Amino acid sequence: MKDFDNRGNRAFSRIDPAGLLEPELWPTSTGMAASSEIAGPVLKIVGKQTLSGHVPIGGSKNSALALMAGSLLAPAACRIHNVPRLLDIERMGQILATLGVKVSHVGNTLDLDASSLRTCQAPYELVSQLRASFLIIGPLVARLGVARVPLPGGCAIGSRPVDLHVRGLQALGATVQIEHGVVHAYARKLVGTRIYLDYPSVGATETLMMAATLAEGETVIENAAQEPEVADLARFCQAMGARIRGVGTNTVVVVGVPRLHGTEYTVIPDRIEASTYLIAGAITRSELTVGPVIPDHLRAVIAKLRDMGLRVEEEGPNRLRIAPAQLSSGWICQATDIQTLPYPGFPTDVQAPIMALAALSEGSCTIEETVFENRMHHIPELNRMGADIRLKNRVAIVRGVPSLSGAPVVATDLRAGAALVLAGLAAEGCSTIYGLHYIDRGYEAIDEKLRNVGAKVYRCNNPAEDPTMA
Ligand code: EPZ
Repeated sequence: MKDFDNRGNRAFSRIDPAGLLEPELWPTSTGMAASSEIAGPVLKIVGKQTLSGHVPIGGSKNSALALMAGSLLAPAACRIHNVPRLLDIERMGQILATLGVKVSHVGNTLDLDASSLRTCQAPYELVSQLRASFLIIGPLVARLGVARVPLPGGCAIGSRPVDLHVRGLQALGATVQIEHGVVHAYARKLVGTRIYLDYPSVGATETLMMAATLAEGETVIENAAQEPEVADLARFCQAMGARIRGVGTNTVVVVGVPRLHGTEYTVIPDRIEASTYLIAGAITRSELTVGPVIPDHLRAVIAKLRDMGLRVEEEGPNRLRIAPAQLSSGWICQATDIQTLPYPGFPTDVQAPIMALAALSEGSCTIEETVFENRMHHIPELNRMGADIRLKNRVAIVRGVPSLSGAPVVATDLRAGAALVLAGLAAEGCSTIYGLHYIDRGYEAIDEKLRNVGAKVYRCNNPAEDPTMA
């Protein structure tokens, strides 16, 4: 077998019948994955299993992370329910603990007590691992008048600047300097003002909304992000006594108050996790239900899946059912063009997962990523499984193929990993997915949830082990 296929990806000289390769044979689309990416446990998937049943959906990771930062606003205890057990949540808890917050996560309930903060400085080694931790800067400046937070740095999907956060805090009267990679922010008192965001940034909206809750006077945030997670944070702050109007709209008005109090709150369901499992049903020609969900949070995803020929129905107030397309051609679905946009547009976090489905669609389509500049690392890995996807700038041109073939592949970020799991579920033969730590950042018990609906998905500490022989 030649060493490289016609797309410049290294082909495999040998795949054992179970498709389980010894790691030393393991290359990736760039020839050799970084050792850190292929270190650690892997997921092994035997493809082409029909799924059935119900997939339980957890609380929203991105909402829970913001609420955790929000708990810093009050010298009091907060109890947050429906918090998923994820690496990112654990890391945020560690960062809050270094600031002096008492943190206890039992089951899916998180207790946070920020009554006595002991420092305003977050440690670099923790912040650099979790971009969302930069959300602590707004509450710290508002509560303590000072914050020192390392720049979160970029990641696989883009440079991830924080200029909108910084400029907004300066507009609220904070002095902000960046020295040696650390953002130093000071303010005797934040003063409400009108802020126009050049881009409806989720994080910047959350930072500035939280800071404004304790500012003097009124703050108007225009061109604010409207993601459900931003609205969930607003409602959490309202429960703490904040005065916020325009929740969930692109103009958020906050009237500052002198002090906030503790509260008990339940996180909304994770719309991205729900979307991922809907696609798992679609890509395996299965009938599945997912829930709890808030259907209104998935309108763009539901619309696209229906455009592709899938049948998606609401079952009661908080459950969705997906059923296979009924195409006379026998294809899994029909190709349809997709463009990611800020909410309520098609979510960027579902771009990689739905590309796995699009790879098996009848016809060709384009998938344009407009939110992040570099969120297409899953393409070479999908191509190594037999997909036919080309990238031109931020537009993926996907030519549908009738089937994918199992292979060892590497996840490079959370949602790219999810896309590879989905492709593995649909592929002929077995797949080994490296970089499982990325997937564990955003999907609680993904192997267990998929096995419970009939998938052959196994978490293996040793990439060479054959779980089907266990
Ligand atoms: C949040 O990231 C989510 N993370 C992301 O989910 C999600 O993809 C993203 O919003 C978009 O919906 C969390 O909530 C923890 P942004 P965030 O600020 O806040 C640019 C996942 O997979 N920008 O809306 O970082 C930025 O570079 C993660 O769960 C600036 O230019 O997203 C990007 O191109 C990934 N300057 C665009 O805005 C700034 O100051 C959107 O970023 C801030 C952002």
